[in-house]
Amino acid sequence: KGEFTVKGTDIIIIGSGIAALQLACQLKEQFNVMIITKGYIKDSNSYRAQGGIAAAISATDSLYDHYMDTITAADEHGHAAAIHTLVTEGRQIIKDWIRVAPFDMHSDGNIALGLEGAHSKARITHCGGDQTGKYMTEFLLRQLYLSKRVQWLENKMVIDLLQNKAERCIGVITKDIDGSCHTYVAPHVVLATGGAGELYASTSNTWSVAGDGVALAYRVGAKLSDMEFFQFHPTLLHINGRSIGLVSEAVRGAGATLKNDLNEQFMVHVHPLGDLAPRHIVAHEIFQQIKAGRKVYLDITPVKDFSSRFPAITNMCKQHGVSIQKGKIPVVPGAHFMIGGVVIDDWGATSVKGLYAIGEVAASGVHGANRLASNSLLEGLVYGKRLAAYIVQQHDNLQTIDFTPKKQHREQLTKLPFTKQELQQSMMQAVGIIRDHDCLSKQLRWLDAYQIDPFKQIEQSDRSTIQVYFMWIAARLITEAALHRTETRGCHIRSDFPNKDNEYWLQKRIVHFKSTNR
Ligand code: SIN
Repeated sequence: KGEFTVKGTDIIIIGSGIAALQLACQLKEQFNVMIITKGYIKDSNSYRAQGGIAAAISATDSLYDHYMDTITAADEHGHAAAIHTLVTEGRQIIKDWIRVAPFDMHSDGNIALGLEGAHSKARITHCGGDQTGKYMTEFLLRQLYLSKRVQWLENKMVIDLLQNKAERCIGVITKDIDGSCHTYVAPHVVLATGGAGELYASTSNTWSVAGDGVALAYRVGAKLSDMEFFQFHPTLLHINGRSIGLVSEAVRGAGATLKNDLNEQFMVHVHPLGDLAPRHIVAHEIFQQIKAGRKVYLDITPVKDFSSRFPAITNMCKQHGVSIQKGKIPVVPGAHFMIGGVVIDDWGATSVKGLYAIGEVAASGVHGANRLASNSLLEGLVYGKRLAAYIVQQHDNLQTIDFTPKKQHREQLTKLPFTKQELQQSMMQAVGIIRDHDCLSKQLRWLDAYQIDPFKQIEQSDRSTIQVYFMWIAARLITEAALHRTETRGCHIRSDFPNKDNEYWLQKRIVHFKSTNR
């Protein structure tokens, strides 16, 4: 509609997952905070998170053990100092919240702790059994709803970031469902958009998590890295050839086992930790089983009181005609977590002034080449708090910012040569759990058939076209990085390079800069 309004605030947060809400909670007393979401506030992956939040809080656990488990999962690609920060500050946050947040507790007053894959100790704090994300989101939202300084803008898709002549990020352009565009300016703009699970045909992610954050950052020249590391969760409920939703790793932590339709407990032959091996190893093995024509399911008969321990999973199974009483949940792997993303420093600042990234969209280095289970909500809490401290410290020096946007040369999208579904299917096949040179280079050529017109404005396209364009940017970055990394490391599995290659250059991060398509 070409209709513009300009509104100002102190901090714009794009997204409404746990990192966004934690940041807003920390800033709401001192600043005006605007939270902008593409859908509704609760349309986030955080809201759906089941397993929980990892923290070394039991008497038999230690920061060192949590640190080492995270380092080991990261497969020699983790950022040691960032991991130290994650486990240390994360534990403090959970300790501070034990009496106020809705964690599940034992009758003796001790916090209930679950076990998940590749953790050497039971350290997964959880809420409502398997509804940790929902409970934690609502816990944070209750604090925010009371604040007059927090403004919520729902159903607005951020389609571009604004920069001034000094290249500082100074705001965003949004597009509403009715097609109208609006401009919002602020000295601090935070990407908390989550990852890109929607790029894949089988995913645990909610519809809105579709690579917007990396696409927006890429278009303004922010540095990105580690895009080849996309984690697949081993167990999504599988009905009639479709993946439906997550079946938490905590189910295996509580004693369920993976079996195929020959009743073989196949993971015992694959890894010493069996069903609780690191996530990429389990996902890979299930994938191989299915490729060999087997069906895979979780045998939940060893789990006592399944429906009271896992009420959300029970409900999901019921809705799709799977009887918990029969003790079998059919499963398939699916895209779960984008490990790479927008490169940040220790506080959440990106390489573009005024632009920050927290949570899944950020490449903080804490997950290396493979994320340890239940370290993601933890990351959101830690970096949400860190970024708040940084913004408080910076804010006084911002009086001289020029809020005049520089003339932007943004592209108009031409007709797309493929549909969203075709993109999702092709990513699943070519850039999924197992990759090789031929599939990756073919996929890259296919993606490059996309044409854009560099002389017109992105605002003129509709939301669904822009969405596929953003997905295309993220897909291209993932495919290109996966093609470049000629080794197998963490969740990046190359059938043509099945081993780790510890030559120096391969251990380096694969970094992307500004698109030539802008
Ligand atoms: C799960 O509950 O299995 C997912 C938790 C996570 O992704 O860390």
